[in-house]
Amino acid sequence: MAYTCEYFQKSADFLRDKGGGIPETAVVLGSCLGPFAQAVEDPVEVDYAEIPHFLLSTVASHAGKLLFGTVAGKRVACMSGRFHSYEGYTFEELVIPIRVLKLLGVKTVVLTNAAGAVNRDYRPGDVMVLKDHIKLNGDSPLRGPNVEEFGPRFFDVSQMYTRPLRRLALDLARDSSLRVHEGTYMFFPGPQFETPAEIRVARALGADAVGMSTVTEALTAAHCGMPLLALSVITNMAAGVLDRPLSAGEVDEAAERIAGPFSEYMKKLIAAI
Ligand code: HPA
Repeated sequence: MAYTCEYFQKSADFLRDKGGGIPETAVVLGSCLGPFAQAVEDPVEVDYAEIPHFLLSTVASHAGKLLFGTVAGKRVACMSGRFHSYEGYTFEELVIPIRVLKLLGVKTVVLTNAAGAVNRDYRPGDVMVLKDHIKLNGDSPLRGPNVEEFGPRFFDVSQMYTRPLRRLALDLARDSSLRVHEGTYMFFPGPQFETPAEIRVARALGADAVGMSTVTEALTAAHCGMPLLALSVITNMAAGVLDRPLSAGEVDEAAERIAGPFSEYMKKLIAAI
């Protein structure tokens, strides 16, 4: 599919007509981090299925809704449910949500995800502020004809996780009960969890956590020059760190446990951005 700006504009026009206002910050909620959506006040809710040229969430723990409203007095657009390549979407299709949000007027993007800890000093329940990522597999979401209206063909990603936002996230952690680290996220396409050997490679390459999302949205935001913050909620030790199998149930339970304090932390962050 060769996208044009008009393609994304169709979704943005539809959403603008829903009357949710112009969001300043977009928040993308990862697996089981949906409870943050309840913090959105006076929400205008739109099902992904209604939005022309949009995608559909196929994962049970992702609600599949966009919410427009306020958090801590700030206008937000909150994606309750995101899209992954393991659902069958191409990397190119995964540019859609962030480009639509950009056209709606969003200035800053906050991405969240559930991730497995590669770093042995991390524990389930911790949060990691992404300072960088490693994506050695899969295409770039920016593959194909460049849409100049969003950004240039070739673009810098050496500072894509915006430094002042990272500093803010780390500073706010001091008043929170959460243990917050800064580290490197490594993307694996899933849907299988990684093998212990893959996790040893990830560690040798400098990864602190692994997950199946976030990088496509981050690259799309970087392409169109949007300030970006990304946070991983550590739900489990990655494969092989502990001598037992991993399960989606373990990930979901840990995400549900941390969702409350994480939502509080997110509210403070949104207020301060
Ligand atoms: N690997 C990949 N994705 C994940 C993990 C993991 O260990 N935990 C939560 N999402």
